[in-house]
Amino acid sequence: MYYPSYRMRRLRRTPTVRRMLRETTLSPDDLIYPLFVIHGENVNNPIVSMPGCAQLSIGNLLAEVREVAQLGIPAVLLFGIPAHKDAAATAAYDPEGIVQLAVKAIKDEAPDLLVITDVCLCEYMDHGHCGVVQDGEVLNDVTLELLSKMAITHAEAGADVVAPSDMMDGRVAAIRNALDDEGLVDAAIMAYSAKFASAFYGPFRDAAESAPAFGDRKTYQMDPPNGEEAVREVLLDIEEGADIVMVKPALPYLDVIRAVKQETRFPLAAYSVSGEYAMLKAAAEKGWLDEERCVLEAMTGIKRAGADLIITYWAKDLVRWLG
Ligand code: PBG
Repeated sequence: MYYPSYRMRRLRRTPTVRRMLRETTLSPDDLIYPLFVIHGENVNNPIVSMPGCAQLSIGNLLAEVREVAQLGIPAVLLFGIPAHKDAAATAAYDPEGIVQLAVKAIKDEAPDLLVITDVCLCEYMDHGHCGVVQDGEVLNDVTLELLSKMAITHAEAGADVVAPSDMMDGRVAAIRNALDDEGLVDAAIMAYSAKFASAFYGPFRDAAESAPAFGDRKTYQMDPPNGEEAVREVLLDIEEGADIVMVKPALPYLDVIRAVKQETRFPLAAYSVSGEYAMLKAAAEKGWLDEERCVLEAMTGIKRAGADLIITYWAKDLVRWLG
């Protein structure tokens, strides 16, 4: 049947009929809120390129966590800024490290909140790379041992989910085996499976103080043009024991999100990264875009592409807007 007897506009006529036929919905249940935790008392260092986000010491973090829980956001993703960086990332797997302390404090404050921890060494290395460096090269296999130690200390502190974001080969299997050997069989792994070497991480590196001191991350993070390889990365992580897989960034990689969902049918998270946040925030501040409408549209697009979960710095605003 074609026009004039068939008319698509019939089912767009009223808010009611549009509501009934909406294919994709966004819910607070889909959201994960990233937080940056730092040592000290009453610290709240705003991140200039990420308005509304800040490095928080544990007391202030707990105030934030209470708000997050009250809003009904189910999960937080923690990043740590250590007091001390070195060539072995020792602060990353210190049982008294900043993330480990924060996890314990959050679990005391809000036991039902799902606590996810980023497992990566870049914030803890004096050179800012995600692995052990020797003669200017990022070494894979020795890095796995440090990542495994880090994941164990996070899970022992009470983290529900560990999220390796380093992009070393074999890290998911190494972490799964290490957790299981320690009896931490219930700690889940959300793998940053298809993580691209993206320019959209710029603001985050200021927030986490994790920019590489030399070179770039292109020998471990993925080459942005490669969608087929992204699916292979995800399939490998599933073989190795990932419980949730991730595509990152989100908006420039919606095709990858779609392909991964179709190929795997696995729980899929998309990380709407700092640069995606910064660009819409900046345009909104200039009065060039309507922040609320653009963010709702962008996040709905990420879900329509196939994401089940969205990691976003807008999580708190989104809950209010969805209200
Ligand atoms: C750590 C890590 C990064 C992000 C999350 N975990 C930065 C990077 O790989 O350089 C980026 C998050 C964001 O931009 O919002 N490896």
